[in-house]
Amino acid sequence: MSINVKMQLPGLGVTSKDSGLMRVQRQGLEARHRDSLARFGYSPEALFWSTRGVQKARFKALAGIGVTRGDSLLDVGCGFGDLDSWLCSQKKTVQYTGIDISPDILNRAGEMTPDRNLQCGELFDFQWADSSFDWVLLSGTLNWNLYDHGDYARRSITRMFALARKGVAFNLLDERFLNPLYLEGLVAYDVQTMLAFCKTVTTNCELIEGYLDNDFTIFMKK
Ligand SMILES: C[S@@+](CC[C@H](N)C(=O)[O-])C[C@H]1O[C@@H](n2cnc3c(N)ncnc32)[C@H](O)[C@@H]1O
Repeated sequence: MSINVKMQLPGLGVTSKDSGLMRVQRQGLEARHRDSLARFGYSPEALFWSTRGVQKARFKALAGIGVTRGDSLLDVGCGFGDLDSWLCSQKKTVQYTGIDISPDILNRAGEMTPDRNLQCGELFDFQWADSSFDWVLLSGTLNWNLYDHGDYARRSITRMFALARKGVAFNLLDERFLNPLYLEGLVAYDVQTMLAFCKTVTTNCELIEGYLDNDFTIFMKK
């Protein structure tokens, strides 16, 4: 069976690109997901979601930005591509591209859905032109603590906005509801600080809360 997963190899330098993850960060994330996949197989738990319900609640909040059937959509940190399946189930079939740094997760995804357009790599590995996708969405991808004070998250959000024709939607963990002592490698953000940053990229921002206790979503529209 041919699997439609295109591999991008990280650069040999310390970072995969000037703005990308440091190699040690990337290797850590890859190892984490290799282990979780070996432990849980195809499941929300392999993606560090506690249940399918919390994964879908995030998808619903993100899609609320206005994703419509036929739109093109880039999913950053796509995991198994479950967002694409969920959008189809909501009668919002899109022209879907998913990227993820975990070759293990993507290989499993490719075995299940060989025709889905999944590419291995992070945002800064790809040379897409600005405005290449109607929507650029991200769910859970920036939840790991890179110990960089959020620099990578801000670079990613800025790049996502450049790649979008209509807008960007992403979620983060909300630090008001998470005890730092129990975060275990995860990172949570101050909502207003992140919103203020997004407003330096575009004034057309909207904060979405209330769909889950410890999560918030930001829409950034063109
Ligand atoms: C919490 S999981 C969520 C997966 C998917 N968005 C979902 O909700 O089903 C985060 C995913 O992001 C991937 N990931 C983490 N950092 C990444 C990065 N910088 N670029 C691309 N993928 C990344 C991980 O390999 C993992 O599959």
